[in-house]
Amino acid sequence: MAEAILEVRGLHKHYPLTRGVVFRKQVGAVRAVDGVDLDLVAGETLGIVGESGCGKSTLAKLLVQLERPTAGVIRYKGEDITKLSGRALKAVRRNIQMVFQDPYTSLNPRMTVGDIIGEPYEIHPEVAPRGSRRQKVQDLLHVVGLNPEYINRYPHQFSGGQRQRIGIARGLALQPEIIVADEPVSALDVSVQAQVINLLDKLQQDFSLSYVFIAHDLSIVRHISDRVGVMYLGRIVETGKDAEIYDHPTHPYTQALLSAVPVPDPTAREHRERVLLSGDVPSPANIPSGCRFRTRCWKARERCATEVPLLAVPAVFRGEESPAAHDSACHFAEAKRVVPAEGA
Ligand SMILES: Nc1ncnc2c1ncn2[C@@H]1O[C@H](COP(=O)(O)OP(=O)(O)OP(=O)(O)O)[C@@H](O)[C@H]1O
Ligand code: SF4
Ligand SMILES: [Mg+2]
Repeated sequence: MAEAILEVRGLHKHYPLTRGVVFRKQVGAVRAVDGVDLDLVAGETLGIVGESGCGKSTLAKLLVQLERPTAGVIRYKGEDITKLSGRALKAVRRNIQMVFQDPYTSLNPRMTVGDIIGEPYEIHPEVAPRGSRRQKVQDLLHVVGLNPEYINRYPHQFSGGQRQRIGIARGLALQPEIIVADEPVSALDVSVQAQVINLLDKLQQDFSLSYVFIAHDLSIVRHISDRVGVMYLGRIVETGKDAEIYDHPTHPYTQALLSAVPVPDPTAREHRERVLLSGDVPSPANIPSGCRFRTRCWKARERCATEVPLLAVPAVFRGEESPAAHDSACHFAEAKRVVPAEGA
């Protein structure tokens, strides 16, 4: 694999669980992110997928340094950025920007679009000196497909898709290298989702951006991701190239997620195998021992309760040229095509 622009190793974010009002006592921890390893290669899109509450947004906030990790490292171009402060932190933050999930709540309703998009320049005036800001913001509006004359309008005067374009323009203002997009299309109508994804695709090519693209649905990331990481209860449980994950998943959780993805081709739909997950996701304050997926896994055996499966190429596929030979944290990994090829 080409050299990573971002390398994450053993990343943890635990929130203390406390009880009592006057004498607050820590009674446990919510392990929102609990040992994430991932690499982001320059110019690629890494899709991160998982159910609600599995730690995706927490991971996003850690990557852009809005949150400090409990443990682990995030190396940006080889340098651990988790211990930085002051000017060094500010410089790194400029290069790793976030686009938020909900364009209805993430834009300040009392600020004009010009002020929203230009706000990052208050912290980084070196990118756009005061006299040039209006022009810069108008250029950004144009780049995201909005009329530059809308600069004095307010967020409520725009549709959901247009608001997300404003959020993207703000993310681009500081000319970052990496954009972490936390479910950027989940709050939008299906018809608008494709437009925003196409825009992100075009911006990636025009500005050589690297993306971490978060979604809760595998079908959304398929068209934009080069590689995909599947997250469960604070960890990546399977990761590989787009086609490896979609056509040759080896982790039971990924297989279950894929079996729920809508298949447009009726013949393929008929042949698709349904894998239903039992039970709910356990609380991240009470993660099962051994394999964290075992309480919902139809393949679980004794070993799964005692031995944590590591994220690596499973022994059965090691040394093979097969697309199944990608990282999967399961003791009993098996390749299984869940969604048949189109026309199958
Ligand atoms: N500041 C916090 N304090 C305590 N617990 C938190 C905090 N932020 C997140 N959590 C908990 O951490 C877990 C992961 O939350 P997170 O928002 O990262 O999940 P997510 O995968 O983004 O979910 P969703 O798909 O619903 O957006 C959840 O159980 C959540 O309640
Ligand atoms: S390690 Fe065991 S419980 Fe975990 S996914 Fe594999 S078979 Fe299921
Ligand atoms: Mg989230």
